[in-house]
Amino acid sequence: MLEVNNLYVYYGVIEALKGISFNVAEGEIVTLIGANGAGKSTTLRAISHLIPYKGQIKLNNEEVRPDLPPHKITKLGIAHIPEGRIIFGNLTVKENLELGAYTRNDKKINEDMEKVLSVFPRLKERLSQLGGTLSGGEQQMLAVARGMMQNANLMLLDEPSMGLAPMLVQEIFDNLVKINKAGTTILLVEQNANMALEIADRAYVLETGSIIIQGTSKEVAENERVKEAYLG
Ligand SMILES: Nc1ncnc2c1ncn2[C@@H]1O[C@H](COP(=O)(O)OP(=O)(O)OP(=O)(O)O)[C@@H](O)[C@H]1O
Ligand SMILES: [Mg+2]
Repeated sequence: MLEVNNLYVYYGVIEALKGISFNVAEGEIVTLIGANGAGKSTTLRAISHLIPYKGQIKLNNEEVRPDLPPHKITKLGIAHIPEGRIIFGNLTVKENLELGAYTRNDKKINEDMEKVLSVFPRLKERLSQLGGTLSGGEQQMLAVARGMMQNANLMLLDEPSMGLAPMLVQEIFDNLVKINKAGTTILLVEQNANMALEIADRAYVLETGSIIIQGTSKEVAENERVKEAYLG
């Protein structure tokens, strides 16, 4: 579904991505793990065209034109849930969810809202609450739920577990599995390698802008270097 070939990103003279290649097949959960500053968020930003890049990005075997603006990438069926629970604090939960569907003009938005709320019952109880008054974990769920409202084929998730207590992390990851089983392909960026490897089919390890290890989650979890550096 997604194929990335020789992706380079520069921030000024800093080479943040040094020609990485990876792919995500339809129906998979693929995780990109790595330490702070490895280039994980940069990878997702390049796929979403939020920053300039060199290299090739293919979606369903067709090259994505590098000059497409970010909203056109959304239209291609890619939802990007960025780092740090970015929701609208002054809007209600329901309004936040409706905004997730702003690029759509089909008639199934209400139906999808019901589906999304069945995955996130905590949000269903809080539809009229202001986003800014949700707990950190609930805000993270709202960010993921809003991404789901785009009805995307491919979801790019940037550290959905960040800053959350283990129980909420578990809940978020359980929900990701549900979303995947319902037909959404997932590219998951995580520092929490333990959890990410548990739900992912395959994994890539990113270190200072290069992919150094790749394989099935089982293979990567058994890799000595990964055990030492990323698994507690
Ligand atoms: N706008 C920017 N200008 C300059 N350098 C940047 C910019 N954004 C990111 N970088 C640098 O690029 C490198 C990769 O950053 P990136 O945010 O992709 O890392 P990451 O793997 O997502 O890390 P984290 O786990 O901390 O979120 C880092 O060294 C970072 O300082
Ligand atoms: Mg990041």
